[in-house]
Amino acid sequence: MNVQLHNSGVSEGLRHYWLPFTANRYFKRHPKIIASAKGAYFTMEDGRRLFDCLSGLWCCPLGHGHPHIAEVLKRQAETLDYATAFQISNPVTLSFAARVAAMAPKGLDQVFFTNSGSESVDTAIKLAIAYHRARGEGQRFRIIGRERGYHGVGMGGISVGGMVANRKAFAPIMMPGVDHLPDTYSREHMAFSRGQPTWGAHRANDLERLVALHDASTIAAVIVEPLQGSAGVIVPPVGYLQRLRDICSRHGILLIFDEVITGFGRLGTNFGAERVGVRPDLLTFAKGVTNGTVPMGGVIASQEIYETFMTGPEESVEFFHGYTYSGHPLAAAVGHATLDIMEKEGLIVRARALEPALENGIHALRGTTGILDIRNFGLAAAIDLEPFEGRPGLRALRVFERALDNGLLVRFTGDTIAVGPPFISTKQELASMCETLGNVIRSVTSPDA
Ligand SMILES: Cc1ncc(COP(=O)(O)O)c(C=O)c1O
Repeated sequence: MNVQLHNSGVSEGLRHYWLPFTANRYFKRHPKIIASAKGAYFTMEDGRRLFDCLSGLWCCPLGHGHPHIAEVLKRQAETLDYATAFQISNPVTLSFAARVAAMAPKGLDQVFFTNSGSESVDTAIKLAIAYHRARGEGQRFRIIGRERGYHGVGMGGISVGGMVANRKAFAPIMMPGVDHLPDTYSREHMAFSRGQPTWGAHRANDLERLVALHDASTIAAVIVEPLQGSAGVIVPPVGYLQRLRDICSRHGILLIFDEVITGFGRLGTNFGAERVGVRPDLLTFAKGVTNGTVPMGGVIASQEIYETFMTGPEESVEFFHGYTYSGHPLAAAVGHATLDIMEKEGLIVRARALEPALENGIHALRGTTGILDIRNFGLAAAIDLEPFEGRPGLRALRVFERALDNGLLVRFTGDTIAVGPPFISTKQELASMCETLGNVIRSVTSPDA
Protein backbone atom coordinates (compact mmCIF):
# COMPACT_ATOMS: atom_id res chain seq x y z
CA MET A 1 0.00 0.00 0.00
CA ASN A 2 1.23 3.52 -0.73
CA VAL A 3 2.17 5.49 2.35
CA GLN A 4 -0.16 8.47 2.41
CA LEU A 5 -0.24 11.25 4.97
CA HIS A 6 -3.76 12.53 4.15
CA ASN A 7 -2.76 16.16 4.19
CA SER A 8 -5.70 17.40 2.14
CA GLY A 9 -9.34 17.56 3.22
CA VAL A 10 -9.07 20.49 5.63
CA SER A 11 -12.32 22.21 4.63
CA GLU A 12 -14.31 18.96 4.94
CA GLY A 13 -12.67 18.36 8.32
CA LEU A 14 -13.63 21.79 9.58
CA ARG A 15 -17.27 20.74 9.26
CA HIS A 16 -16.76 17.65 11.43
CA TYR A 17 -14.01 18.35 13.91
CA TRP A 18 -15.00 19.61 17.39
CA LEU A 19 -11.80 21.17 18.73
CA PRO A 20 -10.90 20.84 22.43
CA PHE A 21 -10.49 23.97 24.59
CA THR A 22 -11.15 26.11 21.50
CA ALA A 23 -13.59 28.80 20.40
CA ASN A 24 -14.86 26.53 17.61
CA ARG A 25 -16.98 29.07 15.70
CA TYR A 26 -14.20 31.66 15.70
CA PHE A 27 -11.62 29.04 14.73
CA LYS A 28 -13.68 27.79 11.83
CA ARG A 29 -13.98 31.33 10.49
CA HIS A 30 -10.25 31.92 11.06
CA PRO A 31 -8.64 28.47 10.74
CA LYS A 32 -5.00 28.09 11.66
CA ILE A 33 -3.52 24.92 10.20
CA ILE A 34 -0.09 23.50 10.98
CA ALA A 35 1.37 21.37 8.19
CA SER A 36 4.65 20.10 9.62
CA ALA A 37 7.29 20.52 12.32
CA LYS A 38 11.03 20.12 12.60
CA GLY A 39 13.29 21.02 15.51
CA ALA A 40 11.96 24.06 17.34
CA TYR A 41 9.76 25.20 14.44
CA PHE A 42 6.33 24.54 12.99
CA THR A 43 5.38 25.30 9.41
CA MET A 44 1.84 26.44 8.70
CA GLU A 45 -0.11 25.32 5.68
CA ASP A 46 0.41 28.78 4.13
CA GLY A 47 4.18 28.50 4.59
CA ARG A 48 4.57 30.64 7.73
CA ARG A 49 7.38 29.30 9.95
CA LEU A 50 6.74 29.50 13.70
CA PHE A 51 9.07 29.20 16.65
CA ASP A 52 7.41 26.72 19.03
CA CYS A 53 7.35 28.98 22.10
CA LEU A 54 5.48 26.45 24.31
CA SER A 55 7.17 23.19 23.25
CA GLY A 56 3.89 22.00 21.74
CA LEU A 57 1.67 22.15 24.83
CA TRP A 58 4.62 21.92 27.25
CA CYS A 59 5.25 18.44 25.89
CA CYS A 60 7.97 18.60 23.19
CA PRO A 61 11.15 19.69 25.00
CA LEU A 62 13.39 18.06 22.37
CA GLY A 63 11.69 19.80 19.47
CA HIS A 64 9.98 17.96 16.65
CA GLY A 65 10.78 15.26 14.15
CA HIS A 66 13.83 13.86 15.89
CA PRO A 67 15.12 11.07 13.62
CA HIS A 68 16.03 8.82 16.57
CA ILE A 69 12.48 8.94 17.91
CA ALA A 70 11.01 8.26 14.46
CA GLU A 71 13.33 5.28 13.98
CA VAL A 72 12.63 3.77 17.41
CA LEU A 73 8.89 4.22 16.88
CA LYS A 74 9.01 2.36 13.58
CA ARG A 75 11.18 -0.44 14.98
CA GLN A 76 8.98 -0.90 18.04
CA ALA A 77 5.81 -0.95 15.88
CA GLU A 78 7.38 -3.74 13.85
CA THR A 79 8.54 -5.67 16.93
CA LEU A 80 5.67 -5.36 19.42
CA ASP A 81 2.99 -2.82 18.57
CA TYR A 82 0.68 -3.60 21.48
CA ALA A 83 0.34 -5.93 24.42
CA THR A 84 -2.10 -5.73 27.29
CA ALA A 85 -0.66 -4.68 30.62
CA PHE A 86 -3.12 -6.79 32.61
CA GLN A 87 -1.57 -9.97 34.06
CA ILE A 88 1.27 -9.92 31.50
CA SER A 89 4.03 -7.51 30.51
CA ASN A 90 6.86 -6.93 28.05
CA PRO A 91 10.51 -5.87 28.20
CA VAL A 92 10.19 -2.32 26.89
CA THR A 93 7.47 -1.35 29.39
CA LEU A 94 9.28 -3.01 32.28
CA SER A 95 12.62 -1.43 31.50
CA PHE A 96 10.99 1.96 31.05
CA ALA A 97 9.36 1.75 34.50
CA ALA A 98 12.79 1.06 35.99
CA ARG A 99 14.28 4.01 34.11
CA VAL A 100 11.57 6.45 35.24
CA ALA A 101 11.96 5.24 38.84
CA ALA A 102 15.72 5.78 38.62
CA MET A 103 15.15 9.41 37.58
CA ALA A 104 12.55 10.07 40.28
CA PRO A 105 13.28 11.63 43.66
CA LYS A 106 14.74 9.15 46.13
CA GLY A 107 12.08 6.98 47.74
CA LEU A 108 9.62 7.24 44.85
CA ASP A 109 10.12 3.84 43.31
CA GLN A 110 6.90 2.42 41.90
CA VAL A 111 5.64 3.53 38.49
CA PHE A 112 2.01 3.11 37.38
CA PHE A 113 1.50 4.02 33.72
CA THR A 114 -1.45 5.94 32.24
CA ASN A 115 -1.92 7.76 28.92
CA SER A 116 -2.35 11.39 29.88
CA GLY A 117 -2.02 13.92 32.64
CA SER A 118 -5.72 13.76 33.43
CA GLU A 119 -5.60 10.01 33.88
CA SER A 120 -2.48 10.36 36.02
CA VAL A 121 -4.23 12.77 38.35
CA ASP A 122 -7.33 10.60 38.70
CA THR A 123 -5.06 7.60 39.31
CA ALA A 124 -3.11 9.45 42.01
CA ILE A 125 -6.35 10.47 43.74
CA LYS A 126 -7.59 6.88 43.69
CA LEU A 127 -4.25 5.65 45.01
CA ALA A 128 -4.40 8.11 47.89
CA ILE A 129 -7.94 7.12 48.87
CA ALA A 130 -7.27 3.38 48.53
CA TYR A 131 -3.97 3.66 50.42
CA HIS A 132 -5.65 5.10 53.50
CA ARG A 133 -8.40 2.51 53.26
CA ALA A 134 -5.81 -0.28 53.12
CA ARG A 135 -4.27 1.17 56.30
CA GLY A 136 -7.62 1.04 58.04
CA GLU A 137 -8.27 4.78 57.67
CA GLY A 138 -11.06 4.65 55.10
CA GLN A 139 -12.59 7.79 56.60
CA ARG A 140 -9.80 9.83 55.00
CA PHE A 141 -11.65 10.71 51.81
CA ARG A 142 -11.05 14.41 51.37
CA ILE A 143 -8.64 15.73 48.76
CA ILE A 144 -7.38 19.29 49.03
CA GLY A 145 -6.57 21.07 45.76
CA ARG A 146 -5.73 24.70 45.14
CA GLU A 147 -7.48 27.67 43.59
CA ARG A 148 -6.37 28.20 40.00
CA GLY A 149 -4.76 24.75 39.98
CA TYR A 150 -5.05 22.72 36.78
CA HIS A 151 -5.12 18.96 37.03
CA GLY A 152 -6.65 17.95 33.72
CA VAL A 153 -10.25 17.28 32.84
CA GLY A 154 -11.15 13.96 34.48
CA MET A 155 -13.76 14.09 37.23
CA GLY A 156 -11.04 13.98 39.88
CA GLY A 157 -8.95 16.58 38.10
CA ILE A 158 -11.72 19.14 37.70
CA SER A 159 -12.88 18.59 41.28
CA VAL A 160 -9.47 19.31 42.79
CA GLY A 161 -8.63 21.86 40.10
CA GLY A 162 -9.33 25.49 40.66
CA MET A 163 -10.04 27.05 37.27
CA VAL A 164 -13.63 28.14 37.38
CA ALA A 165 -14.39 27.84 33.67
CA ASN A 166 -13.45 24.16 33.78
CA ARG A 167 -15.63 23.51 36.84
CA LYS A 168 -18.77 25.57 36.79
CA ALA A 169 -20.80 23.47 34.33
CA PHE A 170 -20.09 20.28 36.25
CA ALA A 171 -20.71 21.39 39.84
CA PRO A 172 -23.46 18.82 40.50
CA ILE A 173 -21.24 15.87 39.63
CA MET A 174 -18.01 16.91 41.34
CA MET A 175 -16.18 14.54 43.68
CA PRO A 176 -17.43 14.97 47.24
CA GLY A 177 -15.27 16.20 50.09
CA VAL A 178 -12.91 18.39 48.09
CA ASP A 179 -11.63 21.69 49.47
CA HIS A 180 -9.11 24.19 48.11
CA LEU A 181 -6.11 26.09 49.36
CA PRO A 182 -5.83 29.70 48.20
CA ASP A 183 -3.48 30.20 45.28
CA THR A 184 -0.19 31.87 45.97
CA TYR A 185 -0.36 34.69 43.49
CA SER A 186 -0.55 38.32 44.57
CA ARG A 187 0.27 40.96 42.00
CA GLU A 188 0.56 43.51 44.73
CA HIS A 189 3.31 41.57 46.49
CA MET A 190 5.15 39.81 43.70
CA ALA A 191 4.72 41.54 40.35
CA PHE A 192 7.80 41.21 38.14
CA SER A 193 9.48 38.63 40.40
CA ARG A 194 12.42 36.89 38.85
CA GLY A 195 12.25 33.21 39.76
CA GLN A 196 10.59 32.28 43.05
CA PRO A 197 8.87 35.18 44.82
CA THR A 198 9.97 35.78 48.39
CA TRP A 199 6.41 36.65 49.48
CA GLY A 200 3.73 34.04 50.02
CA ALA A 201 5.06 31.04 52.00
CA HIS A 202 2.45 31.83 54.64
CA ARG A 203 -0.32 30.88 52.20
CA ALA A 204 0.55 27.24 53.04
CA ASN A 205 -0.75 27.89 56.56
CA ASP A 206 -4.25 27.71 55.15
CA LEU A 207 -3.77 23.96 55.16
CA GLU A 208 -3.78 24.13 58.97
CA ARG A 209 -7.05 26.04 58.73
CA LEU A 210 -8.55 23.28 56.56
CA VAL A 211 -7.25 20.66 58.97
CA ALA A 212 -8.92 22.52 61.82
CA LEU A 213 -12.15 22.73 59.83
CA HIS A 214 -12.36 19.14 58.56
CA ASP A 215 -10.04 17.32 60.98
CA ALA A 216 -6.93 15.64 59.65
CA SER A 217 -8.55 12.24 60.11
CA THR A 218 -10.83 12.98 57.11
CA ILE A 219 -8.12 14.26 54.75
CA ALA A 220 -6.40 11.83 52.38
CA ALA A 221 -4.15 14.08 50.32
CA VAL A 222 -3.17 17.50 49.11
CA ILE A 223 -2.49 17.92 45.39
CA VAL A 224 -0.58 20.85 43.92
CA GLU A 225 1.50 21.62 40.87
CA PRO A 226 5.01 22.66 41.94
CA LEU A 227 4.71 25.34 39.24
CA GLN A 228 1.15 26.25 38.24
CA GLY A 229 1.54 26.07 34.48
CA SER A 230 -1.90 26.31 32.92
CA ALA A 231 -3.03 29.14 35.20
CA GLY A 232 -0.16 31.17 33.74
CA VAL A 233 3.17 30.12 35.23
CA ILE A 234 2.41 30.91 38.86
CA VAL A 235 5.69 30.35 40.64
CA PRO A 236 5.81 28.81 44.15
CA PRO A 237 6.99 31.29 46.77
CA VAL A 238 10.25 30.40 48.51
CA GLY A 239 9.49 27.97 51.34
CA TYR A 240 5.81 27.47 50.44
CA LEU A 241 6.01 23.87 49.22
CA GLN A 242 8.25 22.86 52.13
CA ARG A 243 5.66 24.27 54.52
CA LEU A 244 2.92 22.24 52.80
CA ARG A 245 5.14 19.17 53.12
CA ASP A 246 5.66 19.77 56.85
CA ILE A 247 1.96 20.22 57.54
CA CYS A 248 1.05 17.11 55.52
CA SER A 249 3.65 15.02 57.33
CA ARG A 250 2.48 16.26 60.71
CA HIS A 251 -1.09 15.13 60.00
CA GLY A 252 -0.56 11.90 58.04
CA ILE A 253 -1.83 13.56 54.84
CA LEU A 254 -0.26 12.47 51.54
CA LEU A 255 1.33 15.16 49.38
CA ILE A 256 0.81 14.74 45.63
CA PHE A 257 2.89 16.79 43.21
CA ASP A 258 1.27 17.09 39.80
CA GLU A 259 4.39 17.22 37.64
CA VAL A 260 2.70 16.85 34.27
CA ILE A 261 4.43 20.06 33.14
CA THR A 262 7.42 20.14 35.48
CA GLY A 263 8.45 16.49 35.08
CA PHE A 264 11.35 15.64 32.80
CA GLY A 265 13.36 18.79 32.92
CA ARG A 266 11.15 21.89 32.68
CA LEU A 267 12.61 23.31 35.90
CA GLY A 268 16.16 22.27 34.97
CA THR A 269 16.05 19.11 37.11
CA ASN A 270 14.58 15.67 36.41
CA PHE A 271 11.46 16.60 38.37
CA GLY A 272 10.30 19.84 39.93
CA ALA A 273 10.47 18.16 43.35
CA GLU A 274 14.25 18.19 43.06
CA ARG A 275 14.39 21.85 42.11
CA VAL A 276 12.26 22.94 45.07
CA GLY A 277 13.86 20.43 47.43
CA VAL A 278 10.61 18.81 48.56
CA ARG A 279 9.69 15.14 48.25
CA PRO A 280 6.03 14.30 47.64
CA ASP A 281 4.47 10.89 48.36
CA LEU A 282 2.94 10.58 44.90
CA LEU A 283 4.06 12.30 41.73
CA THR A 284 2.20 12.49 38.42
CA PHE A 285 3.87 12.90 35.05
CA ALA A 286 2.93 12.91 31.32
CA LYS A 287 3.76 15.25 28.41
CA GLY A 288 7.58 15.46 28.16
CA VAL A 289 8.11 11.82 29.10
CA THR A 290 7.63 10.85 25.44
CA ASN A 291 8.37 14.28 23.97
CA GLY A 292 4.69 14.40 23.02
CA THR A 293 5.19 11.89 20.22
CA VAL A 294 3.06 9.11 21.70
CA PRO A 295 0.69 9.81 24.62
CA MET A 296 1.88 8.52 27.97
CA GLY A 297 1.48 9.48 31.61
CA GLY A 298 1.98 7.91 34.97
CA VAL A 299 2.13 8.10 38.72
CA ILE A 300 5.24 7.41 40.78
CA ALA A 301 4.45 6.21 44.28
CA SER A 302 6.61 5.82 47.32
CA GLN A 303 7.69 2.29 48.18
CA GLU A 304 5.70 2.60 51.41
CA ILE A 305 2.47 3.28 49.51
CA TYR A 306 3.12 0.34 47.18
CA GLU A 307 3.87 -2.02 50.08
CA THR A 308 0.64 -1.00 51.81
CA PHE A 309 -1.33 -2.35 48.86
CA MET A 310 0.58 -5.63 48.77
CA THR A 311 -1.54 -7.63 51.19
CA GLY A 312 -4.02 -10.48 50.91
CA PRO A 313 -3.57 -13.65 48.91
CA GLU A 314 -0.73 -13.35 46.40
CA GLU A 315 -3.03 -14.11 43.47
CA SER A 316 -5.46 -11.27 44.32
CA VAL A 317 -5.43 -8.02 42.34
CA GLU A 318 -4.24 -5.31 44.73
CA PHE A 319 -5.46 -2.17 42.90
CA PHE A 320 -8.53 -2.40 40.68
CA HIS A 321 -7.46 0.24 38.22
CA GLY A 322 -5.69 0.43 34.86
CA TYR A 323 -6.11 1.37 31.21
CA THR A 324 -6.14 -0.64 27.99
CA TYR A 325 -3.11 1.40 26.96
CA SER A 326 -1.26 1.52 30.31
CA GLY A 327 2.44 1.12 29.57
CA HIS A 328 1.83 0.98 25.81
CA PRO A 329 4.95 -0.50 24.17
CA LEU A 330 5.14 2.28 21.56
CA ALA A 331 4.98 4.92 24.28
CA ALA A 332 7.55 3.11 26.41
CA ALA A 333 9.90 2.77 23.44
CA VAL A 334 9.54 6.45 22.58
CA GLY A 335 10.00 7.27 26.27
CA HIS A 336 13.34 5.45 26.19
CA ALA A 337 14.31 7.27 22.99
CA THR A 338 13.36 10.61 24.57
CA LEU A 339 15.48 9.94 27.65
CA ASP A 340 18.35 8.65 25.48
CA ILE A 341 18.39 11.97 23.64
CA MET A 342 17.99 14.03 26.81
CA GLU A 343 20.94 12.21 28.39
CA LYS A 344 23.18 12.17 25.33
CA GLU A 345 22.61 15.83 24.54
CA GLY A 346 22.55 16.96 28.20
CA LEU A 347 19.23 18.71 27.61
CA ILE A 348 18.07 19.04 31.21
CA VAL A 349 21.34 20.73 32.10
CA ARG A 350 20.88 22.86 29.01
CA ALA A 351 17.36 23.86 30.11
CA ARG A 352 18.82 25.06 33.41
CA ALA A 353 21.59 26.92 31.64
CA LEU A 354 19.09 28.68 29.34
CA GLU A 355 17.02 29.96 32.24
CA PRO A 356 18.89 33.29 32.63
CA ALA A 357 18.51 34.01 28.90
CA LEU A 358 14.75 33.55 29.13
CA GLU A 359 14.56 35.49 32.40
CA ASN A 360 16.55 38.44 31.10
CA GLY A 361 14.81 38.50 27.73
CA ILE A 362 11.30 38.38 29.13
CA HIS A 363 11.88 40.84 31.98
CA ALA A 364 13.36 43.30 29.48
CA LEU A 365 9.71 43.80 28.41
CA ARG A 366 8.87 45.35 31.79
CA GLY A 367 7.55 48.87 31.21
CA THR A 368 5.84 47.95 27.94
CA THR A 369 2.37 49.51 27.77
CA GLY A 370 -0.31 46.94 28.50
CA ILE A 371 1.92 44.57 30.52
CA LEU A 372 0.84 44.14 34.14
CA ASP A 373 3.23 41.41 35.26
CA ILE A 374 6.03 39.15 34.05
CA ARG A 375 7.09 35.96 35.85
CA ASN A 376 9.48 33.11 35.20
CA PHE A 377 10.86 29.92 36.72
CA GLY A 378 12.78 27.14 35.01
CA LEU A 379 12.34 27.33 31.27
CA ALA A 380 8.85 28.81 31.65
CA ALA A 381 7.55 32.36 31.74
CA ALA A 382 4.32 34.34 31.47
CA ILE A 383 3.16 37.85 30.77
CA ASP A 384 -0.13 39.23 32.12
CA LEU A 385 -1.71 41.75 29.76
CA GLU A 386 -4.13 44.46 30.74
CA PRO A 387 -7.51 43.26 29.41
CA PHE A 388 -9.42 45.42 26.93
CA GLU A 389 -12.33 46.96 28.76
CA GLY A 390 -15.32 44.61 28.81
CA ARG A 391 -13.59 42.05 26.54
CA PRO A 392 -11.57 39.68 28.74
CA GLY A 393 -9.23 37.45 26.74
CA LEU A 394 -9.45 39.47 23.53
CA ARG A 395 -6.14 41.26 23.94
CA ALA A 396 -4.29 37.97 24.37
CA LEU A 397 -6.13 36.49 21.37
CA ARG A 398 -5.03 39.44 19.25
CA VAL A 399 -1.44 39.01 20.48
CA PHE A 400 -1.60 35.28 19.70
CA GLU A 401 -2.77 35.98 16.15
CA ARG A 402 -0.31 38.83 15.53
CA ALA A 403 2.47 36.59 16.89
CA LEU A 404 1.59 33.98 14.25
CA ASP A 405 2.20 36.63 11.61
CA ASN A 406 5.55 37.34 13.20
CA GLY A 407 6.84 33.77 13.45
CA LEU A 408 5.83 32.78 16.98
CA LEU A 409 3.37 30.23 18.29
CA VAL A 410 2.57 31.27 21.87
CA ARG A 411 -0.12 30.04 24.26
CA PHE A 412 -2.71 32.26 25.87
CA THR A 413 -5.28 31.71 28.61
CA GLY A 414 -7.42 34.63 29.61
CA ASP A 415 -5.15 37.62 29.09
CA THR A 416 -1.98 35.78 30.00
CA ILE A 417 0.64 34.76 27.44
CA ALA A 418 2.78 31.75 28.41
CA VAL A 419 6.02 30.49 26.96
CA GLY A 420 7.99 27.32 27.73
CA PRO A 421 10.44 26.93 24.87
CA PRO A 422 12.09 23.66 23.80
CA PHE A 423 15.30 22.72 25.60
CA ILE A 424 17.08 22.67 22.24
CA SER A 425 16.51 26.42 21.82
CA THR A 426 19.53 28.66 21.51
CA LYS A 427 20.07 31.81 23.57
CA GLN A 428 19.65 33.82 20.37
CA GLU A 429 16.29 32.19 19.68
CA LEU A 430 15.09 33.02 23.18
CA ALA A 431 16.27 36.62 22.87
CA SER A 432 14.58 37.02 19.53
CA MET A 433 11.37 35.35 20.80
CA CYS A 434 11.18 37.88 23.65
CA GLU A 435 11.97 40.83 21.43
CA THR A 436 9.37 39.84 18.82
CA LEU A 437 6.79 39.22 21.53
CA GLY A 438 7.44 42.70 22.89
CA ASN A 439 6.93 44.23 19.44
CA VAL A 440 3.73 42.25 18.96
CA ILE A 441 2.35 43.33 22.36
CA ARG A 442 3.18 46.97 21.57
CA SER A 443 1.38 46.69 18.24
CA VAL A 444 -1.88 45.38 19.72
CA THR A 445 -3.41 48.50 21.15
CA SER A 446 -7.15 48.09 20.59
CA PRO A 447 -9.69 45.27 20.20
CA ASP A 448 -9.69 45.75 16.42
CA ALA A 449 -5.92 46.05 16.03
C1 LIG B 1 -0.39 20.02 35.87
C2 LIG B 1 -1.24 19.34 34.86
N1 LIG B 1 -1.94 18.25 35.21
C3 LIG B 1 -2.70 17.58 34.34
C4 LIG B 1 -2.81 18.00 33.04
C5 LIG B 1 -3.69 17.26 32.08
O1 LIG B 1 -2.93 16.58 31.16
P1 LIG B 1 -3.62 15.97 29.85
O2 LIG B 1 -4.05 17.12 29.02
O3 LIG B 1 -2.52 15.13 29.25
O4 LIG B 1 -4.76 15.13 30.31
C6 LIG B 1 -2.09 19.12 32.62
C7 LIG B 1 -2.17 19.59 31.24
O5 LIG B 1 -1.73 20.65 30.87
C8 LIG B 1 -1.30 19.82 33.55
O6 LIG B 1 -0.63 20.92 33.22
